[in-house]
Amino acid sequence: MTVVAVTGKGGTGKTILSSLLIHFISQKTTSVLAVDADPDSNLPDALGVAEIVGKTLGDIREVFQVSRDEMGTANKEQWLEGKIYGEVIVEADRFDLLVMGRPEGEGCYCFANNLLRGVLRRLMRHYDYIIIDSEAGLEHFSRKTIDSADYIVVVTDMSKKGLATAKRIKELSKELDLGFRDIFLVGNRIANKEAEKVIEEFADQIGMRILDFLPYDEKIAELDLRGEPVVNLPENSEYYQKVSRIADMIIQLHALAK
Ligand SMILES: Nc1ncnc2c1ncn2[C@@H]1O[C@H](COP(=O)(O)OP(=O)(O)OP(=O)(O)O)[C@@H](O)[C@H]1O
Ligand SMILES: [Mg+2]
Repeated sequence: MTVVAVTGKGGTGKTILSSLLIHFISQKTTSVLAVDADPDSNLPDALGVAEIVGKTLGDIREVFQVSRDEMGTANKEQWLEGKIYGEVIVEADRFDLLVMGRPEGEGCYCFANNLLRGVLRRLMRHYDYIIIDSEAGLEHFSRKTIDSADYIVVVTDMSKKGLATAKRIKELSKELDLGFRDIFLVGNRIANKEAEKVIEEFADQIGMRILDFLPYDEKIAELDLRGEPVVNLPENSEYYQKVSRIADMIIQLHALAK
């Protein structure tokens, strides 16, 4: 099992990158779980599978919170597991999808989250690859609903804020003790060599390895505007090919770790 969490400042291109990684990796193996861990989610749209989305993990947690007192102790975990397999995880042609949904409301959700953590841990073990589109605060990791990631891919644009967020994520991921093997930086919408140099220097300073610099791609914006999935990008685009190479690298890392 290889867990990859894609994160970074808002709007840097996490969802587009995640969806293409899911697209490429799921062409080479059918054991992929796509996780939408951004409460303001749009991964299913980018993947072109919005119509199959069922309930979110957050929905199930809310129902559980209200009705748990009526369930027997032994049944609680089983109930959650059944709901997640039956109503949350959906199957696309080549991968499964799990949408985490909104964070919990007021009140103490520790008990629910503790049970969920165990269920998610077991569930994730069924897959070779788990690709998580997460937000910058690593919400689900902070709350430990998901408690580990092997690789963290931080996306930054050319902004200072994007880099500052990358630094914060690096610190946060250490604090959270996610047990990750490596944390990488990807530059997105990078227009020139000077910008690459600035990002390289910054990455050096904070001790992060740069995977690649991805260009601005008009076609991405075009698809987005028309509400078409990003997996429809033309194969000869530089963005498409570079992400395909990142996917290959993840597949190699997975093979090495086995
Ligand atoms: N390389 C690129 N070239 C052109 N447009 C891009 C590129 N990468 C991302 N975009 C556009 O930028 C916007 C944000 O991308 P995306 O939704 O992937 O970012 P995000 O980091 O997931 O955002 P959020 O934080 O809101 O979840 C989208 O409209 C997308 O089409
Ligand atoms: Mg997003």
